[in-house]
Amino acid sequence: MPESVSAADASRAVTSLRETIRRHEHLYYVLDQPAISDAEYDALLARLKEIEQRHPELVTTDSPTQRVGGGPREGFLKAPHPSPMQSLDNAFDEQALRDFDRRVRELSGLETVDYVGELKLDGVSLAVHFSGGRMSRALTRGDGFTGEDITENARTIRSLPLVVQRPREHSLPAEFEVRGEVVMNRRAFERLNSERLRDDQPTFANPRNAAAGSLRVLDPRITASRRLEFFVYGLLVDGRPMLESHWDTLDALAAFGFKVNSHRARLHGAGELVACGDRWKDKRESLPYEIDGLVFKVDSTAVQSTLGSTARAPRWAIAHKLAAEQAETLVENIEVQVGRTGALTPRALLDPVGVGGVTVSRATLHNEDEIERLGLRIGDTVLVERSGDVIPKVVRVTAQGKDRRPFLPPGNCPVCGTKVVREQGEVIRRCINTNCRARLRESILHCASRRAMNIDGLGEVLVEQLVARGLVKSVADLYGLSAEKLAALERMGKKSAANLLSNIEDSRSTPLPRVLFALGIRYVGERTAQIIADRFPNVDLLAAASIEQLREIEEIGPRIAETVRDFFREPNNLSLIDQLRAAGLQLSQETTKRADRKLDGLTFVLSGTLPNLTREEAAERIEGEGGKVTGAVSKNTDYVVAGESAGSKLEKAKRLGTAIIGEGQLLDLLGPERQP
Ligand code: IVH
Repeated sequence: MPESVSAADASRAVTSLRETIRRHEHLYYVLDQPAISDAEYDALLARLKEIEQRHPELVTTDSPTQRVGGGPREGFLKAPHPSPMQSLDNAFDEQALRDFDRRVRELSGLETVDYVGELKLDGVSLAVHFSGGRMSRALTRGDGFTGEDITENARTIRSLPLVVQRPREHSLPAEFEVRGEVVMNRRAFERLNSERLRDDQPTFANPRNAAAGSLRVLDPRITASRRLEFFVYGLLVDGRPMLESHWDTLDALAAFGFKVNSHRARLHGAGELVACGDRWKDKRESLPYEIDGLVFKVDSTAVQSTLGSTARAPRWAIAHKLAAEQAETLVENIEVQVGRTGALTPRALLDPVGVGGVTVSRATLHNEDEIERLGLRIGDTVLVERSGDVIPKVVRVTAQGKDRRPFLPPGNCPVCGTKVVREQGEVIRRCINTNCRARLRESILHCASRRAMNIDGLGEVLVEQLVARGLVKSVADLYGLSAEKLAALERMGKKSAANLLSNIEDSRSTPLPRVLFALGIRYVGERTAQIIADRFPNVDLLAAASIEQLREIEEIGPRIAETVRDFFREPNNLSLIDQLRAAGLQLSQETTKRADRKLDGLTFVLSGTLPNLTREEAAERIEGEGGKVTGAVSKNTDYVVAGESAGSKLEKAKRLGTAIIGEGQLLDLLGPERQP
């Protein structure tokens, strides 16, 4: 284009080139049907770049030249999902599929249910928001409620349109969200690993890890080089499905220009679910990417909403896992582990063996009935399998060992020696000694964990020592630790002791839902704790609640209600609560709903002088929105709010890759000030 073209001509040329390029990107990356050669495509892109360079005022973030924008970032910001990104329940066999269909029919009142069958892609889930037809933000799943903003990285995925198409048959809402799975196909994975081997870098264990690692790098140029693909399976407006049928949703997504997996089927009734599962048994290897099963979803979104969700997963969908990767190896011994609730779980110690790219040296045996069912003895050769992140398990005995010996379930706890009990109807033996060292150790580790009291620096080795020396006999004793007590421990310098004490101190302000989760009540996970705290905003109300009152909460079933009630009837637990209260923990909360509190679960460090807010004001506002303010930057810090002369905390944040924000971004996160 000659230098003299008018701005109007340049603008028209840019618009038309972008449209052409987008059409070819869609044909190539989404539909796998290229219509021009790579060289022709490169020439179009080069031409667009050239005009944009001469007319920088015409550059927009959604231009095909801007997929890789700036350089490395300093960290990722966090943002809430409009509705939680849940996980899926599993059906491993035919019976479980039939049970799923029966539950759906019972709850919906339908005689036969229409389903959609899809592949369960083995990648990383991603939520992408669009505003006015343009991609505005991409969030990882995170903890399901809050994700990390990886917009810049997601933009580099070519099958993710930055601007959606506007098909005639659908009107496009101003704001919507698509959800789907980012995968790395087998070829890209192999290529990446061979490059890494060549460059003496550690290789990725599987394509899922490679996809996850590639999405969460700080430099979008690296993501761009990894050739990720994004398959979309959900379309939400305000957190709810936009259309009435899931099948139609997939069609609409394809019409908007998204990549929708072509392997999908409409299925009617349980028989067709089972048959579909059977068809896919041996076909998975033929796909260019990895899958870990199939997903069956109720087609009608109205029926979906009638069915609702449990605390973990929707009742309208099920993952049907296909047989996992397997390998044979020797069971060298069987050991018993004592968990937080006292459950004794036998584990097979294996001659280490590679299963699907990971070395496996232990496999869970669940309980002694399982050992019996398998007919397993120490010295046997077994088939082990692992699928996804699930702990490896023993499938069956393949050869009996010459000197095989039976596993004898311990009559006493292997750690504290207390006689173990097996309650009627229970398959698990338990150590009922609430002071058992192993139980105590596991409970303290759980209590200190990031999602509970978030006490950094309280790792396994330290907890083991604290328990062994009798310094900590209950979670409450953590709050009575002092520099003198810690000084006696191995490998505990003055500085680490001071840090630990300060982290323990900070944890006193942990909000009630996380304190409830930290208590380690059986079946009370993070989300359940949140739901309970919303209904019973202080522990005394909760302790006094009857099973019926607990059951009034939607999503709390009889089993949870009973365990919660039993927990608060146990005198030891009540005295633990008293001690925690005396230690100054937050055992009540204002009745603000989690959904309204913007910074729940986020940890901030304030550094330097902010232009308008004083430190106290900033801290107060952060805490008012459920956030936590701590004194030192650690790997658990979500944001460092940096003002003038921020100094060493800022340096540390940069080293750790923590997100660094200024007062303006903090105010954005906080939103408008609440009226008292
Ligand atoms: S639907 C509320 N469909 O599997 C349920 N998930 O185990 C939303 N996944 O986190 C998920 N392929 O990352 C759905 N066709 C598919 C999927 C799929 C893979 C992943 C997804 C989800 C996980 C749950």
